Amino acid sequence: MSTVARAPGRVNLIGDHTDYTGGLVLPMAIDRDTAIAFTPSSDVLLTSRNFDGEVRINLPVADAAGVRPAWGRYVAGVAAAMDERHMPTRGFTGTVSTTVPIGGGLSSSAALEVAAALAFGIDTDVATIAAVCRRAEHIATNVPCGIMDQLTSAAGVKDHALLIDCHTLDITPIRIPEGVSVWVVEVSSRTLDGSEYPARVAQCTAAEHEIGPLRSADLASVDTIKDPVIRARARHVVSENERVRQFAAALVSGDTREAGIIMLEGHRSLSHDFQTSTTTMDDAVDHISRIPGVHGVRMTGGGFGGCVVILADDDVRFAEGSTPVGCAPAMRVRAADGASIATPLS
Ligand code: GLA
Repeated sequence: MSTVARAPGRVNLIGDHTDYTGGLVLPMAIDRDTAIAFTPSSDVLLTSRNFDGEVRINLPVADAAGVRPAWGRYVAGVAAAMDERHMPTRGFTGTVSTTVPIGGGLSSSAALEVAAALAFGIDTDVATIAAVCRRAEHIATNVPCGIMDQLTSAAGVKDHALLIDCHTLDITPIRIPEGVSVWVVEVSSRTLDGSEYPARVAQCTAAEHEIGPLRSADLASVDTIKDPVIRARARHVVSENERVRQFAAALVSGDTREAGIIMLEGHRSLSHDFQTSTTTMDDAVDHISRIPGVHGVRMTGGGFGGCVVILADDDVRFAEGSTPVGCAPAMRVRAADGASIATPLS
């Protein structure tokens, strides 16, 4: 009888490009997940219901980034990250399947990493699991991501978004108010591998060299940054942290209209100051924001393509043509619990 390790994808409601400077984020785990059904063995032999090929990894793993097919890098990256921390790993033989859209900005890679960590037998708290899986992503792809995706996948709470302080890793679950739901629209498929994501991380580091940690900076100190591009990047991060606080307060008080206004402001900041949006994403946000019943919409996640996230009345209808040509239809997502592992009763 196989054991099944599961981990959800995530969508971020607000707080993008803040995690890697220890800022605030407000994502939720979603009811789309990646499952690895396996039996223990000495090394790893994994097939996928979604992709061709077979991944073979000999433990301890030697070259995680070189594992092929490419989806196997994430699994190997987890083994390598666990090795670095001297955590024991067991091998497994199994099959992976996912209902998280791949490469759509809903953290399909984080879901695979967290499910793999559970299959490798990781046995620790959610913050450490997330740190190991974040490191796995760095090893596998060289993208210097923050901790939001992996922590959300590990720590999700049904019906709640998670207010996360990425410096302390404190998590405050915030209930999604009655009467509204969350939708995502995949605008374009993309990967952060080879994107300008590392350049954005470097620009934030440059800003911090000038004015200190962005998580505790204010807009007056941001204005003293000499380079206009670095100044704009820092302005996004500092204002986005404030928007996360305001958005969380709006959700708690049930003021979804105010929450929606904050989402649109967040989108403008990502588009103008952080420049991680695309014309198609801006058009999608513009179109969708005019639909009756929609409170707010913004791009979500790393950007340069991917998804927009929508907060709208439960009964809103997204008719055909409500998004620009080429976008996927709106998909409703519900806030879900984080990763788990279970052996079915025989
Ligand atoms: C990607 C990264 C996260 C985060 C977001 C932007 O999803 O993996 O760590 O930086 O982009 O908020």
